Amino acid sequence: MSDASVWSAVLAATAAGLWAWRRWHYPSFWYLVGYPITAVSVRASWRRVALGCGLTKKRQRWWFTTVPGAIASTGIVRVKRRFQRVAVDTKPFMWLPLPTRYGWRVTLHTLEGQTPGDYADAAERLAHSWGVHAVRVSSPRPGRVVLQATIRDPLVKVDHFPPSPELLRVTVGRLETGKPWIIDFRTVPHWLNAGATQSGKSNLANALIVGLAPQPVALVGFDLKGGVEFTPYSPRLSALATSRAESLTLLDDLVALMVDRMGVCRQAGARNIWQLPPALRPVPIVVLVDELAELYLMADKSEKDEIARTSTALLRVAQLGRAFGIYLFCCGQRIGSDLGPGVTALRAQCSGRICHRVNDPETATMTLGDLDPTALVSARAIPAETPGVAIVAGQDGQWYRARSFYVSEATAEHAARTYAHLAPSWDEITAHLTGTDADLPELLDA
Ligand SMILES: Nc1ncnc2c1ncn2[C@@H]1O[C@H](COP(=O)(O)OP(=O)(O)O)[C@@H](O)[C@H]1O
Ligand SMILES: [Mg+2]
Repeated sequence: MSDASVWSAVLAATAAGLWAWRRWHYPSFWYLVGYPITAVSVRASWRRVALGCGLTKKRQRWWFTTVPGAIASTGIVRVKRRFQRVAVDTKPFMWLPLPTRYGWRVTLHTLEGQTPGDYADAAERLAHSWGVHAVRVSSPRPGRVVLQATIRDPLVKVDHFPPSPELLRVTVGRLETGKPWIIDFRTVPHWLNAGATQSGKSNLANALIVGLAPQPVALVGFDLKGGVEFTPYSPRLSALATSRAESLTLLDDLVALMVDRMGVCRQAGARNIWQLPPALRPVPIVVLVDELAELYLMADKSEKDEIARTSTALLRVAQLGRAFGIYLFCCGQRIGSDLGPGVTALRAQCSGRICHRVNDPETATMTLGDLDPTALVSARAIPAETPGVAIVAGQDGQWYRARSFYVSEATAEHAARTYAHLAPSWDEITAHLTGTDADLPELLDA
């Protein structure tokens, strides 16, 4: 065999080996091969990329040449002196890129006059220049920005649903950063979950049901679309309202329950049920609402009164539920103010926000509120092919792209039946209710 054919065989074997490595164990391939190459090329191309993306600034620099009279590299200026002042493009200083699970992260020093917003505006251009799926910008402190590049969309495929052993804390999916997406009702008590039909709202509710079913909590459902969504889960639900009349009764019960729990807390000198001794602590209740708008929509004038009462009761639950262990998870296609003033007030109480794919920009704005405008852009860019992808805000004031684990109705139904024995009966929960609405004004002031 000639030398050339040996070499080409070695090269082919190396390429095949690398390809197989990448395919079978991407994480180790990325850290040991992909990342070092990427880090070097990102650093090497940074001047060009920064220039192309409009992130450079002109600065005056002294320029020195050994050959006066030569033509400068631009070809335009004839250099007359050895030293002269020239304007050069300076790029923001870049630290060494660090590997992350799905890409890399790098810290930059902003140049004078730049804000993190300038980098956010350039994020899409940066992503294209680097050939990555997305670049996210954050600013840990003034003068620094961190660019987080994800090579491929990590949300195209998410793994399986893990168990959630901690009380009221369910890992429902995965964030774009690779971290788990956790809904923790004890940190963020009330949630809004918006999205068009087929965007993955019910899937997320299923994930919550599966996660919470084995825990010592009571689940309550409001499903005014005739109960089609939640009736299959009724073995694990302590109460289910499928009509307006039922939902009013159930909401009244919840309000009375809060008043009662408030009395218990006051007697024990506790501010909330978690400060009570375990023997006295009432069971936490998670309230799932399938289509929020149904609670507010009026078929005819005669319902006006009922709707006003529903709206007030729901708002009270939201205002006081946190301290007394009643948590809301409201799903809806629209959460707009067109549903009435009650919705706006309710929205203000729900600090957890989830926005799945939406059809109109208003819903995204309503759901995500005054988050950073790029969050709204991201929400509107969620493709229909990836149901379950959502923009999530809550826990830490930041927003993330995330995707829920796929949880079929059958899985949720199975969990509901398996843990049916853990569902406290509603009669048991509401037994010995003594509180009346008269205590409420005092409560609301507290
Ligand atoms: N995270 C996910 N991963 C994969 N498929 C999903 C996911 N979430 C939802 N789906 C699929 O998308 C479809 C619509 O989801 P669904 O939760 O019923 O939407 P919605 O309640 O918003 O109308 C379902 O068929 C479901 O199987
Ligand atoms: Mg649905």
